[in-house]
Amino acid sequence: SGSGKFFVGGNWKCNGTKDSITKLVSDLNSAKLESDVDVVVAPPFVYLDQVTSSLTDRIEVSAQNSWIGKGGAFTGEISVEQLKDIGCKWVILGHSERRHVIGEDDQFIGKKAAYALNEGLGVIACIGELLEEREAGKTFDVCFQQLKAFADAVPSWDNIVIAYEPVWAIGTGKVATPQQAQEVHVAVRDWLKKNVSEEVASKTRIIYGGSVNGSNCGELAKEEDIDGFLVGGASLKGPEFATIVNSVT
Ligand code: G3P
Repeated sequence: SGSGKFFVGGNWKCNGTKDSITKLVSDLNSAKLESDVDVVVAPPFVYLDQVTSSLTDRIEVSAQNSWIGKGGAFTGEISVEQLKDIGCKWVILGHSERRHVIGEDDQFIGKKAAYALNEGLGVIACIGELLEEREAGKTFDVCFQQLKAFADAVPSWDNIVIAYEPVWAIGTGKVATPQQAQEVHVAVRDWLKKNVSEEVASKTRIIYGGSVNGSNCGELAKEEDIDGFLVGGASLKGPEFATIVNSVT
């Protein structure tokens, strides 16, 4: 790892029950976590309040989505103000499941990011290519286009962590090799340098997501430009998630 403090996020996605989450929180509360790592977990909306009120302050809480503006007549949505009200500090935006399963586009995601940042939430901004895009040699083009949509919309990069999550690696058990991830992270940093600023390029954390687990995190964490992880499946197991947090080098 290279830029800034190592950052490990656990994206619980649409998983869990009151009982399983009580157990996971208690495992996290008793886990030994390296001090030099930012640790964040993202429970489903309905359990956010349970988690913010029972989880140790050592770990911050993120939402998995937020509305593009102030609350009101938006059935089924959750506003940034409501997230802040219950103690959320972060939101994950642009996740591939929201892009490709739900159909959110670059502009919509950019607006959400701008609103959340303006209101003081941190944003975990996800980018990443599909398998067919990688096979067609379009990995960088796709990632840069998604990055540009964030860059065009956001007021500042102070509170953004970029998560590179190649879609073919998500939930598939097919993790990117350290070299594959490092190559994209370098390209992303370079893009930031050319299109935002040298300072943002050197300060912004670029984390990797996609089938990260307790056994492959160590090799990935050694790469210069991998500044942490966004973990799905393996974040549902407290001890394994702790191993990933502690892979900081
Ligand atoms: O946001 C994290 C994620 O998409 C990776 O999921 O299950 O492959 O670790 P998983």
